[in-house]
Amino acid sequence: MTAADGPGADLPGPTEWVTGEPVGVGPHPRPWPDDARLDPELLSSGDARNVVDAYRYWRREAIVADLDARRHPFEVAIENFGHDANIGTVVRTANAFLAARVHIVGRRRWNRRGAMVTDRYQHVHHHPDVDALLTDAAGRGLTVVAVDNVPGAVPLETTELPRDCLLVFGAESGGITDPTRQGAALTVSIAQFGSTRSVNAGVAAGIAMHAWIRTHADLRTAW
Ligand SMILES: C[S@@+](CC[C@H](N)C(=O)[O-])C[C@H]1O[C@@H](n2cnc3c(N)ncnc32)[C@H](O)[C@@H]1O
Repeated sequence: MTAADGPGADLPGPTEWVTGEPVGVGPHPRPWPDDARLDPELLSSGDARNVVDAYRYWRREAIVADLDARRHPFEVAIENFGHDANIGTVVRTANAFLAARVHIVGRRRWNRRGAMVTDRYQHVHHHPDVDALLTDAAGRGLTVVAVDNVPGAVPLETTELPRDCLLVFGAESGGITDPTRQGAALTVSIAQFGSTRSVNAGVAAGIAMHAWIRTHADLRTAW
Protein backbone atom coordinates (compact mmCIF):
# COMPACT_ATOMS: atom_id res chain seq x y z
CA MET A 1 0.00 0.00 0.00
CA THR A 2 1.32 3.46 -0.80
CA ALA A 3 0.41 6.87 0.58
CA ALA A 4 -1.63 7.33 -2.58
CA ASP A 5 -4.10 4.57 -1.69
CA GLY A 6 -3.68 4.47 2.10
CA PRO A 7 -5.89 5.86 4.85
CA GLY A 8 -6.89 9.42 4.12
CA ALA A 9 -6.17 9.05 0.40
CA ASP A 10 -9.62 10.48 -0.33
CA LEU A 11 -8.84 13.68 1.61
CA PRO A 12 -7.58 16.74 -0.23
CA GLY A 13 -3.79 16.97 -0.35
CA PRO A 14 -1.76 19.73 1.23
CA THR A 15 -2.38 23.08 -0.27
CA GLU A 16 -1.70 26.70 0.46
CA TRP A 17 -4.76 27.53 -1.59
CA VAL A 18 -7.38 27.33 1.10
CA THR A 19 -10.34 25.09 0.33
CA GLY A 20 -13.69 25.60 2.06
CA GLU A 21 -14.54 29.15 3.13
CA PRO A 22 -12.80 31.54 0.75
CA VAL A 23 -10.07 33.68 2.27
CA GLY A 24 -7.76 36.24 0.78
CA VAL A 25 -8.31 38.86 -1.83
CA GLY A 26 -9.52 39.08 -5.41
CA PRO A 27 -7.80 40.71 -8.36
CA HIS A 28 -6.00 43.93 -7.44
CA PRO A 29 -7.64 47.03 -8.90
CA ARG A 30 -5.65 48.94 -11.52
CA PRO A 31 -3.27 50.70 -11.47
CA TRP A 32 -1.07 48.09 -9.82
CA PRO A 33 1.53 49.26 -7.27
CA ASP A 34 5.04 49.53 -8.67
CA ASP A 35 6.62 46.97 -6.34
CA ALA A 36 8.99 44.21 -7.48
CA ARG A 37 7.85 42.01 -4.56
CA LEU A 38 4.38 41.67 -6.09
CA ASP A 39 3.47 38.84 -8.44
CA PRO A 40 1.60 39.97 -11.58
CA GLU A 41 -0.22 36.63 -11.72
CA LEU A 42 -1.59 37.11 -8.19
CA LEU A 43 -2.40 40.76 -8.84
CA SER A 44 -4.35 39.68 -11.87
CA SER A 45 -6.15 36.61 -10.44
CA GLY A 46 -6.34 37.33 -6.71
CA ASP A 47 -4.50 35.75 -3.80
CA ALA A 48 -6.20 33.07 -1.68
CA ARG A 49 -3.01 31.60 -0.18
CA ASN A 50 -2.66 30.81 3.50
CA VAL A 51 -0.47 33.85 4.18
CA VAL A 52 -0.94 36.83 6.50
CA ASP A 53 -2.53 39.87 4.88
CA ALA A 54 0.76 41.79 4.90
CA TYR A 55 2.03 39.34 2.24
CA ARG A 56 -0.97 39.49 -0.08
CA TYR A 57 0.11 39.44 -3.74
CA TRP A 58 3.78 38.97 -2.79
CA ARG A 59 5.94 36.51 -4.73
CA ARG A 60 6.91 33.53 -2.61
CA GLU A 61 10.64 34.37 -2.91
CA ALA A 62 9.92 37.89 -1.63
CA ILE A 63 8.03 36.49 1.36
CA VAL A 64 10.91 34.12 2.19
CA ALA A 65 13.43 36.98 1.89
CA ASP A 66 11.35 39.11 4.26
CA LEU A 67 11.03 36.23 6.75
CA ASP A 68 14.77 35.56 6.49
CA ALA A 69 15.49 39.11 7.61
CA ARG A 70 13.42 38.61 10.77
CA ARG A 71 13.87 34.95 11.76
CA HIS A 72 14.35 34.02 15.39
CA PRO A 73 17.64 32.38 16.42
CA PHE A 74 16.07 29.11 17.56
CA GLU A 75 15.85 26.02 15.39
CA VAL A 76 13.84 22.84 15.71
CA ALA A 77 14.56 19.22 14.82
CA ILE A 78 12.32 16.19 14.80
CA GLU A 79 13.50 12.63 14.69
CA ASN A 80 11.79 10.91 11.80
CA PHE A 81 12.39 7.31 12.81
CA GLY A 82 8.76 6.20 12.55
CA HIS A 83 5.90 6.96 10.21
CA ASP A 84 5.28 10.21 12.00
CA ALA A 85 2.38 12.35 10.93
CA ASN A 86 3.41 15.10 13.35
CA ILE A 87 6.27 16.47 11.33
CA GLY A 88 3.96 18.64 9.26
CA THR A 89 2.57 20.14 12.45
CA VAL A 90 6.08 20.89 13.69
CA VAL A 91 6.98 22.58 10.39
CA ARG A 92 3.82 24.69 10.36
CA THR A 93 4.33 25.80 13.97
CA ALA A 94 8.00 26.53 13.30
CA ASN A 95 6.80 28.81 10.50
CA ALA A 96 4.26 30.55 12.76
CA PHE A 97 6.90 31.22 15.40
CA LEU A 98 9.55 32.02 12.77
CA ALA A 99 12.20 29.46 13.64
CA ALA A 100 15.42 29.95 11.71
CA ARG A 101 15.51 26.38 10.43
CA VAL A 102 13.74 23.03 10.68
CA HIS A 103 15.72 19.79 10.71
CA ILE A 104 14.40 16.34 9.90
CA VAL A 105 16.56 13.50 11.19
CA GLY A 106 16.37 9.97 9.81
CA ARG A 107 13.98 9.18 7.00
CA ARG A 108 14.09 11.73 4.23
CA ARG A 109 10.42 11.31 3.40
CA TRP A 110 7.90 12.88 5.75
CA ASN A 111 4.16 13.39 5.71
CA ARG A 112 3.64 16.94 4.45
CA ARG A 113 -0.10 17.09 4.92
CA GLY A 114 -0.05 18.91 8.29
CA ALA A 115 2.47 21.45 7.05
CA MET A 116 -0.16 23.16 4.88
CA VAL A 117 2.68 24.04 2.49
CA THR A 118 4.36 26.22 5.14
CA ASP A 119 7.56 24.29 4.36
CA ARG A 120 7.86 26.39 1.20
CA TYR A 121 8.56 29.39 3.41
CA GLN A 122 10.95 27.58 5.78
CA HIS A 123 14.48 26.30 5.47
CA VAL A 124 14.07 22.56 5.96
CA HIS A 125 17.26 20.49 6.23
CA HIS A 126 17.63 16.72 6.29
CA HIS A 127 20.21 14.80 8.33
CA PRO A 128 20.69 11.05 7.98
CA ASP A 129 21.40 10.60 11.69
CA VAL A 130 21.70 12.38 15.03
CA ASP A 131 25.48 12.75 14.72
CA ALA A 132 25.06 14.84 11.58
CA LEU A 133 22.42 16.98 13.30
CA LEU A 134 24.61 17.61 16.36
CA THR A 135 27.65 18.47 14.23
CA ASP A 136 25.56 20.95 12.27
CA ALA A 137 24.22 22.55 15.47
CA ALA A 138 27.68 22.77 17.04
CA GLY A 139 29.00 24.47 13.90
CA ARG A 140 26.54 27.30 14.40
CA GLY A 141 26.98 27.57 18.18
CA LEU A 142 23.52 26.30 19.09
CA THR A 143 22.76 24.81 22.49
CA VAL A 144 21.01 21.49 21.90
CA VAL A 145 17.88 21.04 24.02
CA ALA A 146 16.16 17.65 23.95
CA VAL A 147 12.44 17.84 24.67
CA ASP A 148 10.98 14.72 26.30
CA ASN A 149 9.58 13.59 29.63
CA VAL A 150 12.39 11.21 30.47
CA PRO A 151 14.38 10.73 33.68
CA GLY A 152 16.80 13.60 34.23
CA ALA A 153 14.68 16.13 32.34
CA VAL A 154 14.13 19.53 33.96
CA PRO A 155 10.69 21.17 33.87
CA LEU A 156 10.18 23.46 30.90
CA GLU A 157 7.84 25.49 33.11
CA THR A 158 10.69 26.61 35.39
CA THR A 159 13.64 26.48 32.99
CA GLU A 160 14.65 29.32 30.69
CA LEU A 161 15.45 28.05 27.22
CA PRO A 162 18.75 29.32 25.79
CA ARG A 163 18.28 32.01 23.13
CA ASP A 164 20.42 30.36 20.43
CA CYS A 165 19.17 26.82 20.70
CA LEU A 166 18.10 23.74 18.79
CA LEU A 167 14.97 22.10 20.21
CA VAL A 168 14.88 18.39 19.38
CA PHE A 169 11.69 16.32 19.49
CA GLY A 170 11.39 12.56 19.41
CA ALA A 171 9.35 10.27 17.21
CA GLU A 172 5.82 9.39 18.27
CA SER A 173 6.74 5.73 18.60
CA GLY A 174 9.99 5.69 20.55
CA GLY A 175 10.51 9.18 21.90
CA ILE A 176 13.86 10.92 21.87
CA THR A 177 16.80 8.67 20.92
CA ASP A 178 19.78 7.95 23.18
CA PRO A 179 22.28 9.78 20.93
CA THR A 180 20.13 12.92 21.14
CA ARG A 181 19.81 12.66 24.93
CA GLN A 182 23.54 12.18 25.26
CA GLY A 183 24.36 15.00 22.86
CA ALA A 184 21.95 17.52 24.36
CA ALA A 185 23.13 20.14 26.85
CA LEU A 186 19.84 19.77 28.65
CA THR A 187 16.57 17.90 28.41
CA VAL A 188 13.29 19.58 29.26
CA SER A 189 9.93 18.01 30.03
CA ILE A 190 6.43 19.43 29.81
CA ALA A 191 4.41 18.95 33.00
CA GLN A 192 1.51 16.54 32.67
CA PHE A 193 -1.27 15.73 35.14
CA GLY A 194 -3.42 13.03 33.48
CA SER A 195 -3.08 9.31 32.80
CA THR A 196 -1.38 9.41 29.40
CA ARG A 197 2.39 8.90 29.24
CA SER A 198 2.91 11.74 26.81
CA VAL A 199 1.33 14.42 24.70
CA ASN A 200 1.40 14.35 20.92
CA ALA A 201 4.86 15.29 19.57
CA GLY A 202 3.39 18.12 17.49
CA VAL A 203 1.67 19.54 20.55
CA ALA A 204 4.88 19.23 22.59
CA ALA A 205 6.74 21.10 19.85
CA GLY A 206 4.19 23.92 19.93
CA ILE A 207 4.43 24.24 23.70
CA ALA A 208 8.24 24.27 23.67
CA MET A 209 8.49 26.78 20.81
CA HIS A 210 6.03 29.05 22.57
CA ALA A 211 8.11 28.84 25.75
CA TRP A 212 11.00 30.20 23.68
CA ILE A 213 8.75 32.95 22.32
CA ARG A 214 7.58 33.98 25.80
CA THR A 215 11.18 34.38 26.94
CA HIS A 216 13.00 35.77 23.94
CA ALA A 217 10.71 37.16 21.23
CA ASP A 218 10.04 40.86 20.78
CA LEU A 219 6.24 40.79 20.88
CA ARG A 220 6.05 44.24 19.32
CA THR A 221 7.09 42.61 16.03
CA ALA A 222 4.29 40.00 16.06
CA TRP A 223 1.53 40.33 13.49
C1 LIG B 1 4.61 10.49 22.07
S1 LIG B 1 6.12 11.01 22.73
C2 LIG B 1 6.89 9.44 23.00
C3 LIG B 1 7.88 9.26 24.09
C4 LIG B 1 7.42 9.42 25.54
N1 LIG B 1 8.59 9.77 26.35
C5 LIG B 1 6.78 8.17 26.14
O1 LIG B 1 7.34 7.62 27.09
O2 LIG B 1 5.73 7.74 25.69
C6 LIG B 1 6.87 11.71 21.29
C7 LIG B 1 7.63 12.99 21.52
O3 LIG B 1 6.75 14.02 21.94
C8 LIG B 1 7.43 14.90 22.83
N2 LIG B 1 6.71 14.86 24.11
C9 LIG B 1 5.57 14.23 24.37
N3 LIG B 1 5.18 14.44 25.63
C10 LIG B 1 6.12 15.22 26.20
C11 LIG B 1 6.27 15.82 27.49
N4 LIG B 1 5.37 15.64 28.46
N5 LIG B 1 7.36 16.57 27.72
C12 LIG B 1 8.26 16.79 26.75
N6 LIG B 1 8.16 16.26 25.50
C13 LIG B 1 7.10 15.50 25.23
C14 LIG B 1 8.85 14.41 22.93
O4 LIG B 1 9.67 15.08 22.02
C15 LIG B 1 8.69 12.94 22.58
O5 LIG B 1 9.91 12.37 22.15
